Amino acid sequence: MDCVEYSKEDGIATLTINRPDALNALNRDVLEKISEYVNMVSMVDGIRALIVKGAGDKAFIAGADIKQMEKMSPMEMLDFCQLGQDVSLSLERAPFVTIAAVNGYALGGGLEMALACDFIYATPESKLGLPEVNLGIIPGFGGTQRLTRAVGTRLAKEMILSGKIIDAHEAYRIGIVNQLLDKNTIYDVVYSLARQISKNSSNAIIQAKYAINAAEDLGMREGLELERNLCTICFDTEERAQAMKAFTNKMKGKK
Ligand code: COA
Repeated sequence: MDCVEYSKEDGIATLTINRPDALNALNRDVLEKISEYVNMVSMVDGIRALIVKGAGDKAFIAGADIKQMEKMSPMEMLDFCQLGQDVSLSLERAPFVTIAAVNGYALGGGLEMALACDFIYATPESKLGLPEVNLGIIPGFGGTQRLTRAVGTRLAKEMILSGKIIDAHEAYRIGIVNQLLDKNTIYDVVYSLARQISKNSSNAIIQAKYAINAAEDLGMREGLELERNLCTICFDTEERAQAMKAFTNKMKGKK
């Protein structure tokens, strides 16, 4: 049994974290496999979106593997955090849309992986949190940075310093979750949302995603400069010319 399963249909790839007996906890093998698949998908032409989900009906990912971490030296932990951060960065910067479909616990490293995805959809029964302080550590796969950017300093401090686990309604209210979806249909709905998004220009999606990610690091003046340059790059494509021509012709046809 592979600890991460890969499948693909109609240009949509799915990664299923497959350790249901350990609530899909992230050990080194899982992180390395996710990394391999994200890199592979980046190289394959025609994949427009990647869905990340957890096997079973109890957890998306219940965190980094505590049993594995317990035996690590500080240097091994540094290396583990580096790997987790690299994987989350690769999801965030992937040249396609990344979507976390959260069905159950998304804790610690699990929430950190979800926060690195472009969208988070969750079932109302899901529970989310960064409870690392209970174990004497802090989030190490990007959580202090991404949660703060997602909800602001005050709420991020409340969640991380208390280690509290919130329900999906609360996560939706504070803007961590894009939409709540019924547990019986979440994967179908996420799949069809991914298909809908992937009908748009892949180049435009790549450039828009790049500009939005950069907004977190750049000042307004540099951000606007990047935006106009990327918009000009999009403009100088055959795809753009065809799309605008088709629109104009359609309007002419209406007259
Ligand atoms: N790492 C390793 N194993 C984990 C795990 C993790 N993060 N989370 C759950 N598991 C394992 C449990 O050890 C158990 O396996 P075992 O029976 O072989 O020991 C199995 O998954 C089921 O977990 P269990 O605790 O029995 O389920 P539960 O429904 O009673 O509780 C949680 C669910 C999520 C509340 C609880 O498992 C938990 O607190 N997990 C740790 C969450 C966490 O702190 N994550 C951040 C890590 S930095």
